[in-house]
Amino acid sequence: MEKGESLNKILIVDDIEDIRKQLKWGLGREYTVLLAADGTEALTLFRRHQPLVVTLDLGLPPDEEGTEEGFRCLGEMLQIAPATKIIVITGNDGRENALKAVQMGAYDHYTKPVDLDELKVIISRAFHLQTIEAENRRLQSTIMERAGENNGIIGQCPSMQQVFTTIRKVAQSEVSVMVSGESGTGKELVARAIHDMSLRKHAPFIAINCGAIPDTLLESELFGHEKGSFTGAHVRVLGKVEYAHKGTLFLDEIGEIPGVLQVKLLRFLQEKKLQRVGGREDISVDVRIIAATNIDITKAMEDGRFREDLFYRIGVVTVDLPPLRNRGEDILLLANIFLRKFSSECNKKVRGYSPEAEQCIASYSWPGNVRELENKVKRAVIMVTGHQIESDDLGFATQTPPPPPTPEIHEFGTLKDAREALEREMILSAIRTQGGNIAKAADVLGVSRPTLYDLMKKHGI
Ligand SMILES: Nc1ncnc2c1ncn2[C@@H]1O[C@H](COP(=O)(O)OP(=O)(O)OP(=O)(O)O)[C@@H](O)[C@H]1O
Ligand SMILES: [Mg+2]
Repeated sequence: MEKGESLNKILIVDDIEDIRKQLKWGLGREYTVLLAADGTEALTLFRRHQPLVVTLDLGLPPDEEGTEEGFRCLGEMLQIAPATKIIVITGNDGRENALKAVQMGAYDHYTKPVDLDELKVIISRAFHLQTIEAENRRLQSTIMERAGENNGIIGQCPSMQQVFTTIRKVAQSEVSVMVSGESGTGKELVARAIHDMSLRKHAPFIAINCGAIPDTLLESELFGHEKGSFTGAHVRVLGKVEYAHKGTLFLDEIGEIPGVLQVKLLRFLQEKKLQRVGGREDISVDVRIIAATNIDITKAMEDGRFREDLFYRIGVVTVDLPPLRNRGEDILLLANIFLRKFSSECNKKVRGYSPEAEQCIASYSWPGNVRELENKVKRAVIMVTGHQIESDDLGFATQTPPPPPTPEIHEFGTLKDAREALEREMILSAIRTQGGNIAKAADVLGVSRPTLYDLMKKHGI
């Protein structure tokens, strides 16, 4: 579409001239109407003008009595621009075809004879939806731009905004940072963001996963070793700490470091000098430490598994990443952003999620957090055959357990219990029926959004 061309174009595809005339007359004042009498003409106009809405008669020549040409047109249009709202027009006996068309991705269907006023309502709704979707896309681009400022970390919810504020504040300083959060919440992403925003950004970012290396090798991995220091040490090897000189050392799963090594690490952090295994020379190294943990480090300290003095050295600033299930509308936001990313990578035209799929995404507990969401969406994009991702494509149909049966009244116990149980039921139901949209659910329940969040927290939803 050329710049400045009107955004209210509708394409009318019908082989009957009278109908075309009637619709042009009826819609011409509000919309820019394009007319096509057959499939070829329709597709030419469709490509050239990219109308936002189309009405498509399925019985097109040379197959006026059948629907083959109509379906061919529908399929091609959706292939070219899947977001177009196509209203399929069928004859009296066309119910089955109408349903098939909607399954293929048509927006709605309408049975002849045409009642202009009725059709106008459907058309105006279709345009309205286009406006909302355009607005959503605009919002998403803004969010992506903002994510760019935060090194690709996406998050609109208050707790993630808080994370961004902290990251930006600490990045410019030299303090050590401890990032905590469940698996897959983005700890490494945050560590890299801090490094990339810091003055050390041109120096290396070296990551070491302390939980993945056997205890016996970890010391040498961290501090390096001299030739001959142990069997198999044929040459001098530098440790990760030395490689990170002038840059950032990311100690992932720091909670897994064995006690002896915790002491050595602490000494290094105090003196900024290390000795390679088997060496005697003190080597000065300048690194900034960012550590991550997905275990409760406070508990580990209480249990004596993690040294408090080491924690106070490293955890000068802590960043707590909330689990994905507590990030409200960020869940669907991320789901949509991943969808766009993977469908463009896989060259697949996927328009979005079905309402059921959105509901599953919003209500699932996401134990594997953002990583799990990313993987599920990737899988869905590979699996999907239509234009819309269904809950099966996400692997939900088999995994989400059925909702617990509603308890009988006498099982509630006290009045307070009953009130609580009913409150919980109503909240769940509102969230479900509003497709996981918390703002809408709050509206339906007649409470403010923050109140609803509080209630959800209270009920562990
Ligand atoms: N807020 C976010 N926006 C965009 N992508 C994210 C976000 N959080 C995490 N991801 C993506 O999710 C995946 C997991 O993130 P990351 O590896 O940083 O998690 P982690 O907390 O280190 O996980 P683990 O505890 O398993 O090591 C990565 O692909 C990352 O890019
Ligand atoms: Mg990680």
